[in-house]
Amino acid sequence: MKSEVFFRGKRGVDLLHDPLLNKGTAFNEAERQTLGLEGLLPPRINSTAQQLERVLDNLRSKADPLEKYIFLISLQDRNETLFYRLVMDHLEEMVPLIYTPTVGRACERYGHVFRRARGLYVSLHDRGRVRDVLDNWPSREVRMIVFTDGERILGLGDLGADGMGIPVGKLSLYTACAGVFPEQCLPVTLDVGTDNEELLADPLYVGLPHRRVRGADYDALIEEFMVAAHEAFPAACLQFEDFGNANAFRLLRRYRNLYCTFNDDIQGTGSVTLAGIYSALRLTGERLADQRFLFFGAGEAGIGIADTLVAALHQEGMSGAEARRRCWLVDSRGLVVAERAHLSEHKLRYAHPQAAGTDLPKIIERLQPTAIIGASAVPGAFTERVVRAMARQNRRPIVFALSNPTSRSECTAEQAYTWSDGRAIFASGSPFDPVTLNGVLHEPGQANNAYIFPGLGMGLMLSHASRVTDEMLLVAARALADRVTSDDLAHDRVFPRLTHIRDISHAIATAVGELVYAHGLSDAQPPVDFAAHVREHMYQPDYHDYTAEQDSRVGAFDEVMSLASR
Ligand code: NAI
Repeated sequence: MKSEVFFRGKRGVDLLHDPLLNKGTAFNEAERQTLGLEGLLPPRINSTAQQLERVLDNLRSKADPLEKYIFLISLQDRNETLFYRLVMDHLEEMVPLIYTPTVGRACERYGHVFRRARGLYVSLHDRGRVRDVLDNWPSREVRMIVFTDGERILGLGDLGADGMGIPVGKLSLYTACAGVFPEQCLPVTLDVGTDNEELLADPLYVGLPHRRVRGADYDALIEEFMVAAHEAFPAACLQFEDFGNANAFRLLRRYRNLYCTFNDDIQGTGSVTLAGIYSALRLTGERLADQRFLFFGAGEAGIGIADTLVAALHQEGMSGAEARRRCWLVDSRGLVVAERAHLSEHKLRYAHPQAAGTDLPKIIERLQPTAIIGASAVPGAFTERVVRAMARQNRRPIVFALSNPTSRSECTAEQAYTWSDGRAIFASGSPFDPVTLNGVLHEPGQANNAYIFPGLGMGLMLSHASRVTDEMLLVAARALADRVTSDDLAHDRVFPRLTHIRDISHAIATAVGELVYAHGLSDAQPPVDFAAHVREHMYQPDYHDYTAEQDSRVGAFDEVMSLASR
């Protein structure tokens, strides 16, 4: 079993070129002799600590974040164990490099910095044989698929096939943050073209150089992909990522009751933001039921958060209609009101009777929100007037500027604290440095979806969930909020430190899995102790001992696989 899963019969150069198996200079004497590696490596054997020192030195010698990203991806391509050891030991430094904000820059430059393909590309040309394409993927053990059509990459818009950096980065976080094994992860880009003029004119663009195909042909590709992915990897969870909002909502609606699938931009964002609100309420001493939320940006993130807040309020006993009345939306045309014509279905439920308006400070004065949540990708939209209007009406105004990357944030942490005289409870999508104002240290929390989706995915995967329900997003939010300490709150941090992410993901995976079993959404037999079960099945970036009789990592991995094939 060990050799089938791990060695795959590989020796010599083949072993060194397999990033899942490679240990580089850490192969010991006995391994070098038995695996045909003698002479293929410099003679001095390094410990993992020495290898880490080398890669950290290299990484930190680079000033440009994009260069750092390229270095990290190259390391991942050479030696995944060392890559994950590095990421996990230096999470707060590495996550902004392998994910937002740097990954955004990497996607913008993708065709120009492209070195080696990572992930699977399924294009319109593959219609009728998507299953064959999926069968080319080397691992049969896939349990987590993140797929995008590249239409709305972070807040950067349509990057077409250059958006591949996002599913790749996101799956790295599934592994680093929750312990999904790297060989269980499959990043996919569905290439249906791009409407990005710059990319269309760029000879180095990696995708199909034509406009986006929409309508029936687009839908047919998605349908074929969903069916083929489920057939090829029946135990896999399918995560929608960075689709344009017209497709994101309707595809989620179409598939959420057919497969184990969720949309992180909608549902993951809802869950992580609800957790931030729960923490903010510990600072204000108020109840969720007393809040009024104003969303600036009524797309996937804004609506996803509003829907999750409504579900949470409903769970507390409020009617759905009353809960929706607590949420107001502003989109690119201004305040969403009942009298507005041609509203999409997902906005319609938040269109209340009110006079229309476009001036945000005036809207704030009129509606008196307790929280303003930016998800518009409009940089600087939370002006001094906006923050001051919030601060006039609230002792502790909740100001979440969630747009990514940093360059799209509605305001900076420093602006929020300064313009509210230090009273704002601030969180952002991309990280901001701490701010000291009048001698008081404020540590802005990052509403990073990475707090939620890795643990959620792990819980779904290990419980063999057939569906993803709203209740799962609520328990995930609660589990995350429960990890915020009084020390975090003392510095206005409404999210825990990312360094605790493994424990956070463990708590979320456990809560989600237990709910899956309790709601009868799995055919699998629940383990006696699901929390222990999750702990046992979390990947650790430790080198395989090729000379040992049995390896614990192989044991854990085999067990996950045998469960998967049930
Ligand atoms: P989207 O494209 O679905 O929605 C954008 C919304 O902003 C639309 O409703 C649009 O009408 C509105 N908008 C655009 N210009 C506006 C203007 N001038 N005034 C008012 N509203 C305007 O995009 P999505 O997925 O909702 O993402 C929005 C932002 O939120 C992105 O920057 C994204 O990176 C960020 N985001 C942050 C997350 C986090 O912090 N955890 C998670 C998901 C998204």
